[in-house]
Amino acid sequence: MTAAPLPSALDLEAEIRRLKQERNAVILAHYYQDSEIQDLADFIGDSLQLAQAAKKTDAAVIAFCGVHFMAETAKILNPGRVVVLPDLEAGCSLASGCPGDAFVRWRAKYPDAVAISYINCTAEVKAASDLICTSSNAVKIVASVPADKQILFAPDQNLGRYVMKQTGREMILWPGSCIVHETFSERRLIELMTRHPDAEVIAHPECEEPLLRRSAFIGSTSALLKHTAESPKREFIVLTEPGILHQMQKASPDKLFLAGPPVDESCSCNECPFMRLNTLEKLYLALRDLQPRIEMQEDLRVRALAPIERMLALS
Ligand code: 13P
Ligand code: SF4
Repeated sequence: MTAAPLPSALDLEAEIRRLKQERNAVILAHYYQDSEIQDLADFIGDSLQLAQAAKKTDAAVIAFCGVHFMAETAKILNPGRVVVLPDLEAGCSLASGCPGDAFVRWRAKYPDAVAISYINCTAEVKAASDLICTSSNAVKIVASVPADKQILFAPDQNLGRYVMKQTGREMILWPGSCIVHETFSERRLIELMTRHPDAEVIAHPECEEPLLRRSAFIGSTSALLKHTAESPKREFIVLTEPGILHQMQKASPDKLFLAGPPVDESCSCNECPFMRLNTLEKLYLALRDLQPRIEMQEDLRVRALAPIERMLALS
């Protein structure tokens, strides 16, 4: 059954603000959300900051504007609160490319290794991991493992390779990648750099190595935002999902931000198709109906919580 269309005169922004009060809800949004969602959020952040915000909140309802693994992490940290995700189909290619049972078989081949999983994975994978990391603390988390220990790193091989270079630690990598960050074209980046010789190239570590080699600064979404606000440079080519440009432009209105070019110039394939499933209308419905909710078996939640807590303690 399809839901009745909303009245066209409905002021979605005003209704979302009203429902937020009524429900005692907090809206947490990732930088990759549409700008109108970011503008309504109580807190905008990268994966680590959002997990920290979810842990701290005392709101009864968390409306999570991001993707499933992020809302799931908020639920793992908040079993007693209602966590809604405007579109339950908002997944992630890294999470779906690393099924829990396959991960458990992979890790069983290396019984003495420490398994570190990027937060972009399912609760099942988290539950079978020793430590979780995000793009902003991956180097620190990997460096915290005793030097004589073998390390397994899943599911993003690009972030894994970047961390290996930064720490000098060898790791066994799960062969996963982000469909958004692997679409940047090196050839078209060079063209853009030629047209904007003063622009600094900055990248998220989920990008492939040839793109990272061309980048003057590499970091998580919040690190990229901080860098552009503090740098004396006036122009930037940004190799990550272009949703972040909204906050960059707000923080530095007089600087120029150019979205990194995808291989196919006719597509917007470096917009995350999962993140962009969330809309104002779906956020309104999620707050109105308190659906769709993130639910999880308690034993799975408890097992997935342990490596997240270890990460938060180290962050
Ligand atoms: P951040 O850790 O920068 O939030 O990255 C999350 C993500 O999904 C990048 O694609
Ligand atoms: Fe997943 Fe990539 Fe989308 Fe981030 S941008 S949520 S890693 S698919």
